[in-house]
Amino acid sequence: MIKDFGVSVDLDIKADDFVQFYLKLVNRNLNHLGTHSENTALISVALAKCMGYRTSDIKLLKYGVLLHDIGKLFTPAEILNSSRPLTSIEFEMIKTHTLFGYEVLDNFTSFPNEIKYFAVKHHYRQGFGYPKPLIYDNGVDQTLIDILTVADSFSAIMEPRVYKNNVSAENTFEIMNDETNEKNKGLNKDVIEHLKYLIDDNKINLKGFF
Ligand SMILES: [Fe+2]
Ligand SMILES: [Fe+2]
Repeated sequence: MIKDFGVSVDLDIKADDFVQFYLKLVNRNLNHLGTHSENTALISVALAKCMGYRTSDIKLLKYGVLLHDIGKLFTPAEILNSSRPLTSIEFEMIKTHTLFGYEVLDNFTSFPNEIKYFAVKHHYRQGFGYPKPLIYDNGVDQTLIDILTVADSFSAIMEPRVYKNNVSAENTFEIMNDETNEKNKGLNKDVIEHLKYLIDDNKINLKGFF
């Protein structure tokens, strides 16, 4: 809880300004997180347009996606920037970013109320992933969240990291469709097909991914 200094100041923080601040901060301190958030947003918005979503839904999705990993601000940077294999405890620590993201975004009363659900649900895939069991039921369209989940997996596999090289789009789809891989089980197949169509048709510029 933040201290009350005896004065009440109503800070009306605009979502756009906060997103700019957040992206600058994470790009400076956390390996690739800002770029990853923007790549994921680019893909998500293209998918939502292609799948016929309304402008108001697409706007909501844009904020939700740009801030989906905000809970990683609570994960020690040494873990996120580590080039060595992580321990199982460190993986468990990373997983909490979904819950911290929900908590942080819940504090911003001037932001659209729904965006916190994108943060808490983006690693949950039709019975697989985390956090489980999912108690955060809400009115957000599940396919919109599935769009984020597919776009997030696609960019995370494709982008280079300190511990791995970038992966081609073709190989990325192969990994995403591999049902024996626990990390990608349960991804929405219809959304993956739409993404494949967009990439094959050069409708998404993947230049910034490498
Ligand atoms: Fe995440
Ligand atoms: Fe992510």
